[in-house]
Amino acid sequence: MECLLGLDIGTSGTKVALFEVGGGLLAAHTAEYPLYQPRPGWAEQDPADWWQATCSGIRQVLSAAGVKPTAIKAIGLSGQMHGAVLLDVHGEVIRPAIIWCDQRSVAEAEAIADDLGQAKVIELTGNPALPNFTATKLLWVRRHEPENYRKIAKVLLPKDYIRYKLTGEFATEVSDASGTLLFDVAGRKWSDEMLDCLAINREWLPECTESAVVSGRVTPAAAGETGLACGTPVVGGAGDQAAGAVGNGIVEQGLVSATIGTSGVVFAATTRMVTDPLGRLHSFCHAVDGLWHVMGVTQAAGGSLQWFRHTLAPDVSYDLLTEEAAEVPPGAEGLIFLPYLMGERTPHLDPFARGVFFGLSSRHDRRHLTRAVLEGVTFSLRDCLDLIIELGVDFDQVRASGGGARSRLWRQIMADVFNQPVVSVAASEGPAFGVAILAGVGIGLYPSVGAACRQCLQVSDPVVPQRETSRFYQMRYQLFRQLYQALKDCFTQNMQRSDEQ
Ligand code: XUL
Repeated sequence: MECLLGLDIGTSGTKVALFEVGGGLLAAHTAEYPLYQPRPGWAEQDPADWWQATCSGIRQVLSAAGVKPTAIKAIGLSGQMHGAVLLDVHGEVIRPAIIWCDQRSVAEAEAIADDLGQAKVIELTGNPALPNFTATKLLWVRRHEPENYRKIAKVLLPKDYIRYKLTGEFATEVSDASGTLLFDVAGRKWSDEMLDCLAINREWLPECTESAVVSGRVTPAAAGETGLACGTPVVGGAGDQAAGAVGNGIVEQGLVSATIGTSGVVFAATTRMVTDPLGRLHSFCHAVDGLWHVMGVTQAAGGSLQWFRHTLAPDVSYDLLTEEAAEVPPGAEGLIFLPYLMGERTPHLDPFARGVFFGLSSRHDRRHLTRAVLEGVTFSLRDCLDLIIELGVDFDQVRASGGGARSRLWRQIMADVFNQPVVSVAASEGPAFGVAILAGVGIGLYPSVGAACRQCLQVSDPVVPQRETSRFYQMRYQLFRQLYQALKDCFTQNMQRSDEQ
């Protein structure tokens, strides 16, 4: 049997999934690891944890599926975007990776915008300077940890660190490179001009190819650690959102996905590069050659429900929580949740925004709180969808994916809040599946990404909007939007006060 392996270096864990060439899942394993938040707004991970999770996951999957390592014809890599993994000349990690949701580099993002002008930054990279992107993290290290900065020989994105461990190669691909703020997204290459403006060394960056290109082969050392066959090809892969889009078949214009993982993303494939002049949506290269995409990001989507459960209901399963939430009516009897636990990207670009339960009364119980979290996250995704519509990107179908989409209630809330039918695809492995497809294209097992998606994906029946509920949600959504506007200045003051203490 011929198989393809997909790895997804996520925020809560690394997923390893093994597929038949026809798309059937043979085995999957997720190994979790910690997220370190040493200060408010900071988010770090240890790349050694990612590697350990990768090695143990691959061994588990090989043994669960009972296939020989040589049956794996190619490996695809996906992962959390925007992180900064800093390596010294010996290829050793210098400090913990500063990851996508870290907000410490607000001053650096502001300085880039002030020095170059946000319009120029958008012209060069397709996106505004935000503290989430890799570049501002590098500038933070330059300013606050000069001893670490001096040691840098290579800067890698999270999945590309795993590529380095597997193959010894320093390489990335266009979709993930797009999220560094150092990339010319329109030209699909590193931006020499941006690198010059920020005085960042070009030599630090890995080679960048299209996503379905073989970038290296498993080394004897990595084969020993993982159980893989030496020489197995490793394909470029994609940032988790582009990879998830491939896994959901969002590989042509007219399709949109709404993904609820730790973050939430609304993603539309485009045949030309579409840029929001205000930078509220990201414009990145798609993992499909010749396509781009726009996407809006809710920083804490599934992350909001995860926080809620860990903090207030650690002994209750997600299934039970959402079953309880279905017992209370839409609107959670006057309770609205703003999901800004990690600041917010789309549409506010506001690192100071914070979570809010609004309208709390003694009548509310856990069921209402859970329902308000599901609804608040969905309102935030609606913000993203509206911006995509505003930019003139047409679509006729929303595909829900990610852990959140497994809940029937959450899919119904999406259909009602978006006022659109929502479908899902049978494959539940999202990004890991997407990069397995890219891996298959990279070694010629499939003729193209589109053909592979047609061969492997099945779309479910749609969940349709309920007219009355949908109408009611349109009103709640307006209030949700007003709440942020009313609190915007308070969020900033609140952060300044807590900085002073
Ligand atoms: C996308 C983004 C997240 C992370 C973590 O812009 O920040 O999707 O990649 O999942």
